[in-house]
Amino acid sequence: KRLILIGPPGSGKGTQSPIIKDEYCLCHLATGDMLRAAVAAKTPLGIKAKEAMDAGQLVSDDLVVGIIDEAIKKPSCQKGFILDGFPRTVVQAEKLDEMLEKKGVKVDKVLNFAIDDAILEERITGRWIHPSSGRTYHTKFAPPRVPGVDDVTGEPLIQRKDDTSAVLKSRLEAFHKQTEPVIDYYSKKGIVANLAAKKPPKEVTAEVEKVLSS
Ligand code: AP5
Ligand code: ZN
Ligand code: ZN
Repeated sequence: KRLILIGPPGSGKGTQSPIIKDEYCLCHLATGDMLRAAVAAKTPLGIKAKEAMDAGQLVSDDLVVGIIDEAIKKPSCQKGFILDGFPRTVVQAEKLDEMLEKKGVKVDKVLNFAIDDAILEERITGRWIHPSSGRTYHTKFAPPRVPGVDDVTGEPLIQRKDDTSAVLKSRLEAFHKQTEPVIDYYSKKGIVANLAAKKPPKEVTAEVEKVLSS
């Protein structure tokens, strides 16, 4: 399957992705994760992306379209993929359509993680991440067995630089202004499935499974 996950910051895209990935053997392409890795490695891409990311604004369409164009060619992505955090503008959606048209394939479903903004601050400020695996925890909703430590590797967890209340405001603004039109774009194609993303993680997973099996 070829899936797109759309939703505001903290709506659960990164939490559900690994589960969907394992069940359907898809490759998981998260532009945010790829950009953060580039920033950490101080690559030319990372240097260009850092300022916008720290401010909670979107990185330029050209940069992210370039990353996806490269990544989607990988052999492991030929049977299917999960796009987490891409496309985030209508221009990106149009570019993706062009890429897929050339391969003669289409997006099967767009999972819309629908949720009220009010819930997101608590989720974002309580998030802890294991950087190398992408495993995500929450001090209240999904605590690690030992505070600040990854359950699987025992390595330290970190918080994202943009996970503050102030930067969240800009990220939400970008979402409403630039990314919600992408949901309309796919609604017109009749492939959007709305999820009640405020439910507990397991219930959201069950909704995802229902959508994907229908
Ligand atoms: P990105 O990394 O994509 O961040 P985001 O969209 O802000 O999304 P998040 O990762 O914050 O949220 P999530 O939905 O994955 O939440 P999670 O599952 O972790 O992008 C970062 C930046 O990169 C952007 O601001 C931009 O600058 C740039 N960028 C990326 N893509 C771009 C693009 N295409 N174009 C331009 N710029 C781009 O959950 C959050 C927390 O809540 C966790 O602690 C989790 O444990 C908890 N939680 C999850 N689900 C539940 C639940 N059901 N109940 C209770 N708690 C839950
Ligand atoms: Zn994420
Ligand atoms: Zn809105």
